Amino acid sequence: MTAVLNPTAQALSKSTPKPVLKAAVIGTGVISKQHLSFLQTCDRAALVGVCDLSPAAVDYAVKTFQSGKGYTDYTQMLAHEKPDIVHILTPPQTHLPIATDCLRAGAHVICEKPIAPTYKEFKDLWQISRECDRYLIEDHNYRFNGPVRSLQALIEDGTLGEVQEVEIRMALDLRSGGRYADENLPSPIHKMPAGVIHDFITHLSYLLLSLMPHTDHPEGFDRVSAAWSNHGGGDLFKYDDLDALVISGQAHGRIRFSSYTAPDCFAITVRGSRGYAETDLFQPYLRCVVPRSVGKQLSPLVNHFYSGWELMSASVRNFRSKIMQRNAYDGLHYLLGETYAALSEGKAPLIGFEDMARTSRLVEALLAQENRL
Ligand SMILES: NC(=O)c1ccc[n+]([C@@H]2O[C@H](COP(=O)([O-])OP(=O)(O)OC[C@H]3O[C@@H](n4cnc5c(N)ncnc54)[C@H](O)[C@@H]3O)[C@@H](O)[C@H]2O)c1
Repeated sequence: MTAVLNPTAQALSKSTPKPVLKAAVIGTGVISKQHLSFLQTCDRAALVGVCDLSPAAVDYAVKTFQSGKGYTDYTQMLAHEKPDIVHILTPPQTHLPIATDCLRAGAHVICEKPIAPTYKEFKDLWQISRECDRYLIEDHNYRFNGPVRSLQALIEDGTLGEVQEVEIRMALDLRSGGRYADENLPSPIHKMPAGVIHDFITHLSYLLLSLMPHTDHPEGFDRVSAAWSNHGGGDLFKYDDLDALVISGQAHGRIRFSSYTAPDCFAITVRGSRGYAETDLFQPYLRCVVPRSVGKQLSPLVNHFYSGWELMSASVRNFRSKIMQRNAYDGLHYLLGETYAALSEGKAPLIGFEDMARTSRLVEALLAQENRL
């Protein structure tokens, strides 16, 4: 039965305006387009200012996204605009000082991943956020992409049984072009502890941890071993390949980053005691292979039929997405929407301390000398 509001309650719910947070953005590079386009349409946010070291980038953002006033010094923006929330979208090495200043200026912080280069720096920043009584949120966007939420639902409703294996596999041809391959203008990411893989390792780690069964181990996982390689050689890339095993209880997790396998992919597979499910976030689909009600003999055929149907449907959906120029950032828009809804009502955001701490500890463990294969 549908609940019917009485006329007074209806009038109240229509007339009570949603609380709106004053938002500001620092760093107007590649990822800012997603944050700014979200802020343009969010009814819980009023974008009051943007800042970048480059005046041209600021001008572009102000004109394209009607993003309030433009600044090239974020401390001036904090002082003049007094935002309630700041999105920090600058290179990782700058996050700690910028986030510290934003928290001390009284703003909640949404920070791009990796929030800090090391676990210690993350903890220092968390301590500052506690002292300032402000929320600190690292962007774990891919956790909220449609297929990942569907995988999570298949785990939670028992469809896959007990999770035994999770594999997160990213293949990106970083060596033969693009912004990481330019020797003359090296990306700041090369200076991170894992080199360019550090730009992706947060995604791979939080995805793995969110799909693996929880363990009582204080680290959030029991054991780790990792093989880091630089197959292409040279000084620019520290590593271009990672193959890692993460053990949690009896479940095995694999994190795989490759610059040499083709085609590019962002594939996730979860295998349980009843069946398995897989997706690729670059070409989204969801394939689920489980026992069907037709019995053991016919289940493989029914699974083939379902898989074929899903792949056909996904090809049409993905073709439409390409024409509409949609990309893999639906999870980012979902996460930001939920975060603004929570913060504007004084509630805790979706990403909490343990999510960020476990992720940061896993990255550190993967890099630790004693865990190397
Ligand atoms: N969540 C995701 O899926 C995703 C995707 C891409 C990038 N990222 C992350 O977002 C962050 C930014 O990446 P990007 O690709 O947009 O980088 P980018 O190099 O394209 O942009 C960074 C911008 O920050 C500006 N900047 C640097 N220091 C500044 C300062 N002190 N004050 C103001 N502006 C400053 C630079 O001028 C530049 O315009 C990184 O941490 C990266 O890992 C996340």
